[in-house]
Amino acid sequence: MRMKTTYIHGGISHDEATGSVNVPIHQTSTYKQDKVGVHKGYEYSRTGNPTRAALEALIADMEGGIRGFAFASGSAGTHTIFSLFSKGDHIVVGDDVYGGTYRLIDKVLKRLGLTFTIVDTSSLEAIEGAIQRDTKAIFLETPTNPLLKITDIQAVAEISKKHKIISIVDNTFATPYHQNPLKLGADIVLHSASKYLGGHSDVVAGLVTTNDKRLAEELGFLQNAIGGILGPQDSWIIQRGIKTLAIRMEAHEQNALKIVEHLVQHPKVSKVYYPGLASHPGHLTAKKQTTGFGGMVSFELTEGLSAKTFVEKLSLITLAESLGAVESLIEIPALMTHGSIPKKQRLKSGIKDELIRLSVGIEDVNDLIEDLELGFTSV
Ligand SMILES: Cc1ncc(COP(=O)(O)O)c(C=O)c1O
Repeated sequence: MRMKTTYIHGGISHDEATGSVNVPIHQTSTYKQDKVGVHKGYEYSRTGNPTRAALEALIADMEGGIRGFAFASGSAGTHTIFSLFSKGDHIVVGDDVYGGTYRLIDKVLKRLGLTFTIVDTSSLEAIEGAIQRDTKAIFLETPTNPLLKITDIQAVAEISKKHKIISIVDNTFATPYHQNPLKLGADIVLHSASKYLGGHSDVVAGLVTTNDKRLAEELGFLQNAIGGILGPQDSWIIQRGIKTLAIRMEAHEQNALKIVEHLVQHPKVSKVYYPGLASHPGHLTAKKQTTGFGGMVSFELTEGLSAKTFVEKLSLITLAESLGAVESLIEIPALMTHGSIPKKQRLKSGIKDELIRLSVGIEDVNDLIEDLELGFTSV
């Protein structure tokens, strides 16, 4: 089955019992047992629910995993993955990960005795240099949020295998449509499905998959033990979103390319971050490991112009956190999504106060460009 078909027919896409072409929403917490311990595969909905199971099978099919796991949020998925590790374990983490991931590491996991080294994972030397005797994993995003830095997944997977540690890739920005980290050698893939997979800003969810039998067993145990599972209604909504992922991703990219073209020549823009630009330092790696550059664009206004005034003056593009939806969303990472990262660390990672992140939607691109011009004339 080819990818676009998998999105519609992959996982468990219909109901054998009734012929329903969509998986039913199994709104139940428990299941009748015929005799003690004799049941139809489901005992209790934290452990397993047929609607969630269909989504979990689907994400595994989409990423080339052997088993999938659906969580109440991307962050719940991240937390469950980090629960694979024990006090004293060391993990190398990308310096430009989602602000909430940084907060989880800095404010929760460090307290529990995990240790971390933050590095720019687009530098393989930096990764090698950070690995120590007790290192157990590398956790990275590519493209990163919000600077769209690119890491060579295959090269990181090779480093991980050499040091017998696991590699974990947050694939939220690229989506499985453009990038499949497991196929490039990574061990675990994570998604905030609240973004492109859901695609409509109407649900918060997380998905995880792996192609390693031992990790799949451990993640299954942790998902049930910790319990941050996705409910059946939201599992259904994410499956509905995934059906149109391919056409949405193509439309996002087409619009993003036109907007980038507009921004790079704009006198009020000093810098544009987009991996599709030949001048982007990760362009060739992105070209090698992805089938497209996606719909996320970050940019800086020229010195002295206010990013806050700019975003507040737009009328069509919505000022909001989150990304990956049909409607365009804009935000200032330093004040919004990445506000939980201390300023010193943020600036060290290159996230300036005036950086603007734009999640390009699938509206008519001319309307989006006209709206951006409203912002430019206001500054
Ligand atoms: C790249 C990335 N990973 C993880 C998350 C966390 O996902 P959630 O908001 O679903 O908890 C986000 C949220 O913005 C994100 O952008």
